[in-house]
Amino acid sequence: MHLAVIIPTYNERENLPELIYRIENCLKKMKDFEIIIVDDNSPDGTGEIAEDLAKSYSNIKVVHRPRRMGLASAIIDGLRHTNAELIAVMDADLQHPPELLPILIDKMINDDAEVVIASRYCPGGSVGNWSLLRQIISKVATKIARILIPRISNVSDPLSGYFVVRKDVIENVNLNPIGMKILLEILAKGKYSKVCEVPYKFLPRERGRSKLNLGTYIQYLKHVFKIAKETGEVLRFLKFCTVGLSGILVNEGLLWVLTELMKIYYIISSLISVEVSILSNFTFNELWTFKDRIKSRRARKVLMRIMKYNIVSLGGLVINVMTLWFLTSFCKMHYLISNIFGIILATAWN
Ligand code: GDD
Ligand code: MN
Repeated sequence: MHLAVIIPTYNERENLPELIYRIENCLKKMKDFEIIIVDDNSPDGTGEIAEDLAKSYSNIKVVHRPRRMGLASAIIDGLRHTNAELIAVMDADLQHPPELLPILIDKMINDDAEVVIASRYCPGGSVGNWSLLRQIISKVATKIARILIPRISNVSDPLSGYFVVRKDVIENVNLNPIGMKILLEILAKGKYSKVCEVPYKFLPRERGRSKLNLGTYIQYLKHVFKIAKETGEVLRFLKFCTVGLSGILVNEGLLWVLTELMKIYYIISSLISVEVSILSNFTFNELWTFKDRIKSRRARKVLMRIMKYNIVSLGGLVINVMTLWFLTSFCKMHYLISNIFGIILATAWN
């Protein structure tokens, strides 16, 4: 199978020759592969070194861009220069061990996956000698992405810069990433059904400097948010909040009706109104917020989901009613005001 290894470079003159040597060496068995180096006019002369390498190895192409334009966009440009069916992406600084490449490719073929990720966070992987701060930032960044882009919630390292992907996955997909995290964009928008991960140890950088800085983090947050918007997740979040608000109205309104108009004891009224609001939230979320994600509408499945939803909401129900009772009977608050506090505490608990 035709493979292209895309390598973005910015000031990597000290790393590139060793990297190329090791890639050529470990892919020897693969007859049909090329290496595409995308250099952003590195001031240290990486571009010239790449050209020299292209003279020694016939399967190297060098793409020169006029100025520093970012890691993700370098990969997109590299893609335009190949028609390989298999695309590998890796850094030039040897933090991504090249010897893992054949393992990633084998995994893709054996497991019939469309994307294979070299992961720092699946069992067996690690980030090496990172400072505690960078470890925390990386974990938090990963978590944010997994929450805001539910499609990747099962991927341990969606921010990896080292992966192999089949060309079909990204064909005719509008990739328009900001910053460094191209894989995130591919996972959010690509056409695939199976992703596999292979653990690896992110090696320390021996030569040259990382291009990561504060701006990168801000860019990253913008990027995740943009993807969430493009994939409809922000809209979903707004729907979820709207349903939550409607639940408050149902709870409070029904409590008043039952207590005032039907003269039911307010604690009993509250138990009924909380339960009704739980059910109405459930219904709106099923039919509206998560409409596209509900797999089965068979009665048994729906019932199971209602049960689950109720079990999860049970703590909130107890907190809501207890707060209402406590504030009304001991603090002499009006029961409708006590109920608002109850709802706030229950929501926080949930
Ligand atoms: N062409 C080009 N243009 N290349 C760039 C640019 C750019 O603007 N910025 C960085 N690069 C190249 C570097 O030369 C290196 O080969 C690679 O992209 C990664 O840059 P580093 O600065 O070494 O990034 P890092 O080590 O902090 O993080 C990398 O590894 C992580 C874990 O896999 C990145 O790939 C992250 O995206 C990734 O999460
Ligand atoms: Mn690096």
